[in-house]
Amino acid sequence: MGHAKKVVLAYSGGVDTSVCIPYLKQESGVEQVITLAVDLGQGDELEPVREKALKSGASESLVVDVKDNFIKDYAFPAIQANALYEQRYPLGTALARPLIAKVLVETAAKYGADAIAHGCTGKGNDQVRFDVSIAALNPDLKILAPAREWGMSREETIAYGERFSIPVPVKKSSPYSIDKNLLGRSIEAGILEDPTVEPPEEIYEMTKAIADTPNEAEYVDIGFTGGIPTSLNGNAKNPVQLIEELNQLVGNHGVGRIDMIENRLVGIKSREIYESPAMLVLIQAHRDLESLSLPADVTHYKRGIQETYSQIVYNGLWYSPLKGALDAFIQQTQERVTGRVTVKLFKGNATIVGRDSQYSLYTPDLATYGADDKFDHKAAEGFIYVWGLPTRIWAQH
Ligand code: ARG
Repeated sequence: MGHAKKVVLAYSGGVDTSVCIPYLKQESGVEQVITLAVDLGQGDELEPVREKALKSGASESLVVDVKDNFIKDYAFPAIQANALYEQRYPLGTALARPLIAKVLVETAAKYGADAIAHGCTGKGNDQVRFDVSIAALNPDLKILAPAREWGMSREETIAYGERFSIPVPVKKSSPYSIDKNLLGRSIEAGILEDPTVEPPEEIYEMTKAIADTPNEAEYVDIGFTGGIPTSLNGNAKNPVQLIEELNQLVGNHGVGRIDMIENRLVGIKSREIYESPAMLVLIQAHRDLESLSLPADVTHYKRGIQETYSQIVYNGLWYSPLKGALDAFIQQTQERVTGRVTVKLFKGNATIVGRDSQYSLYTPDLATYGADDKFDHKAAEGFIYVWGLPTRIWAQH
């Protein structure tokens, strides 16, 4: 294989990814490091990040805004799949990685790089998501993961960086490990590593404490077209706008926090805190609209594959053939998932209180207990005779 000469590095501006720049050049014989910072709505100023990469020795420093792409092509399909890993985590971090990998691979092609690098450690899911996604998109690219092999402690990493004039973090860095984008935040480490301890209020940014939420309920109407959220309270929204506004609205009522013990792909159990207000409410509303507009068998069958879908996404297999096949099934089911769902937000709860669809399969004169009931009660007898036949025969022996 030989040494990689030109590398595209996934860059966040933090100490670890900054130290990767001199490390790749000194220890891995790389000649040119091109950094790529991807804007997924994490809210960081990216111009300083761009300059920091150049100061740290990058030959080229790129920033790309992929927010629209992220919501349309990664978050919305996950909503259509009602994807919740282990029934709870709406996959905010897991959905971002395949998109970052895609932009890295495209950038490598554009700049004639022969390798891609990232700053993931060897303990997490993100390294798997990057490595597998990159390989799926271009199996010829080398992958370098300096932080997986260098074995430096935090102090050693900082000291290594100082030798190459990478500034020491000014403020005492947060005890938490945080990943953030438009879909939410993941907070790990520090005191949170003790699963018996309640998370301190300071870790939350997108969701209010119940004590600080409004004392009056607020209602929001979410409109869906073909399983995709397209409006809030009757006003059409573009994808990024919709997520941003809903995060605000829902988080304001203290909805969207998750505290869970999670099974990582690498075999470790970890205590994870998330806040993901918009995604949680969108999945809840979408699932409700499906109950109205999909036949029973399709609904039930789809529920059965959702668990698999979430595992595939969590486990880094976004670009796998099984994922593609499940997508095709899911897309086929979404055609009539059009309508609106009314969500009531109050004191940490999001409750669906109404739903409506032009494709509603709910039939009032079949469902009613009133006088205009059109259901043929006598037909039930023959149906039950046949339906219960195997059970009756079994009981006779
Ligand atoms: N446990 C979550 C996941 O695997 C969050 C990971 C956060 N990543 C990070 N680099 N801080 O999707």
